[in-house]
Amino acid sequence: MLRRDIFITYMIIVLISLSITGFVTVKSVEKYFIKNTEDTLITHANVLRGILAPEFKAQQIPSTAINEKIRKLSNDIEARITLVDLNGQVIADTERSPDELENHGNRPEIEMAYRGKIGKSIRYSSSMGTEMMYIAVPVINDGSISAVLRLALPLSQMGRLSKYIWGVILSSNLTGLIISFIMSTIFSRRITKPIEEVAQAAKGIAQGNYDMKIPVTATGEIKVLAESFNHMAENLYKTISELKEGKDKTEAVLGSMTESLVAVDDKCRIIMVNSAAEKLFKIKREKVLGRHLLEMLRNRELYDLVKDVVKNKKYMSQELKIITSEEKIFYINIVPISGEKSSGAVAILRDITDLRKLEKVRTEFVANVSHELKTPLTSIAGFVETLLDGAYKSQDHCLYFLNIIKLETDRMTRLINELLYFSRIEAGISFKKTHVDLIEVVMKALSVLQTAIKEKRHKVNLDLPDTIKPILSDEDSLLQIVINLLDNAIKYTPDEGKIHIALAETHDEVIITIADNGVGIAENELDRIFERFYRVDRARGGKIRGTGLGLAMVKHLVKGLGGKITVDSELGKGTTFRIFIPKA
Ligand SMILES: Nc1ncnc2c1ncn2[C@@H]1O[C@H](COP(=O)(O)OP(=O)(O)OP(=O)(O)O)[C@@H](O)[C@H]1O
Ligand SMILES: [Mg+2]
Repeated sequence: MLRRDIFITYMIIVLISLSITGFVTVKSVEKYFIKNTEDTLITHANVLRGILAPEFKAQQIPSTAINEKIRKLSNDIEARITLVDLNGQVIADTERSPDELENHGNRPEIEMAYRGKIGKSIRYSSSMGTEMMYIAVPVINDGSISAVLRLALPLSQMGRLSKYIWGVILSSNLTGLIISFIMSTIFSRRITKPIEEVAQAAKGIAQGNYDMKIPVTATGEIKVLAESFNHMAENLYKTISELKEGKDKTEAVLGSMTESLVAVDDKCRIIMVNSAAEKLFKIKREKVLGRHLLEMLRNRELYDLVKDVVKNKKYMSQELKIITSEEKIFYINIVPISGEKSSGAVAILRDITDLRKLEKVRTEFVANVSHELKTPLTSIAGFVETLLDGAYKSQDHCLYFLNIIKLETDRMTRLINELLYFSRIEAGISFKKTHVDLIEVVMKALSVLQTAIKEKRHKVNLDLPDTIKPILSDEDSLLQIVINLLDNAIKYTPDEGKIHIALAETHDEVIITIADNGVGIAENELDRIFERFYRVDRARGGKIRGTGLGLAMVKHLVKGLGGKITVDSELGKGTTFRIFIPKA
């Protein structure tokens, strides 16, 4: 485009200047030619009138012989000679017979000559059929004009000359044109190439290729332009890289946050959300950016809080319940932001649902423990009072009450021991792993609970292999587990029940099974028996009193050893616990 414009302009300038030169040259050559011809004719006329003057002595019309004379003279000077008398009558002429010629008195050059001056005229001669130059001078005898001598020369020679000059000029112009055509092509390319390169690079940058460079081949201003452009592109690239890096960092930080973050501008339109917020509100960043907060998050309470902060520019924090798929409690911090051009607010939402749940569990736990301690303490206090009131006097009563007091103190001691055990587990007890023979563990547990088994006359059926390869585990924990399960089986099976203990192994774990044919557990309670302080018989108000911590502890220990526990039970038929412990 630019190249074509430059080329056309260049060619027009060349054409105009060549035409002007040609025209001026031809015109000045013509002028010079005419002047030259005129001077020559005037000189000839002056000479001739001197020669011819004697012919007009005493105002005589010269004889026809004069015709012969001027013809000779005409041959010498190569011009037409005409003699005209004072009336305009042609006396003699070198080209035609005077009779054929009309009166010449009114010809401008003749009229001038009559007045004693040199008459000049250039005009088309119909008798000669060409452009002619006429010069007329008076022939003077004794101080008075006797006739007029006129010399005429055809200017056809000049026409030929002009044509020739035009020819030369045109051919040189044509050569000039061809040369300038080539030159302008080269020049326009040389001028436009670097501009095109700049344009190309600018286009590239506009499309995001910030590392584009223009090869600096040009000189002068274009070179300066190319260099400044490259410099600018480099700076732009640097700035954009820095911005991008900053943005990436910010995004990485925001993305790794567990808190949800939503930022809005002064019109409460969303300008930023992190991935936690996307997950929480089930939104997509691309879809919510630039949209109104209320419209996108559909939470009026949160919107009102954010709006207040945007308006009052004051930090605020508070707890807020947000119901998405489930009800959750959030601790919200909203901070006003004020930049140079924009203001708004950033809301950070921290999910504290679990924290609140844990707090609830803790308060419940404390309440449970207090309750569990209060019951035996109340009964001890009651019996001590009865004894003090006089019961101590009877030895039988005294023994009876002291036995009950002992039972209750034992219960409290066990409860406290279990609580201590729990706090140890919670603090993260380290398991001492040694080579453990599981047959030994089972036998130890049986000997611990031997009395209880005997008391209830249970029949214990053992299904143990002769030997079992020791496993790498914590012996104390395993003993605790088996004792607790066995204790339950004894407790929750009516007298003369059947208890079955089995040991089996797969290639990477051992399975301990403890089954009874006791009261069983209802299906809806199976999940809950592993909770702390949960006792089925509590609801049923049964006679057997435990603390409800046994299975919770078992579960903790099994998990700590990397194993798992299952339970199958049917009300009135019995219960089977299975523990799976990894061999190493
Ligand atoms: N073998 C079983 N047969 C029937 N019910 C059982 C059996 N084992 C446990 N349960 C039920 O599960 C409840 C929880 O057992 P867990 O061992 O945790 O507490 P507990 O035996 O009541 O008290 P603790 O073991 O602390 O003295 C028991 O109260 C009982 O109702
Ligand atoms: Mg128990």
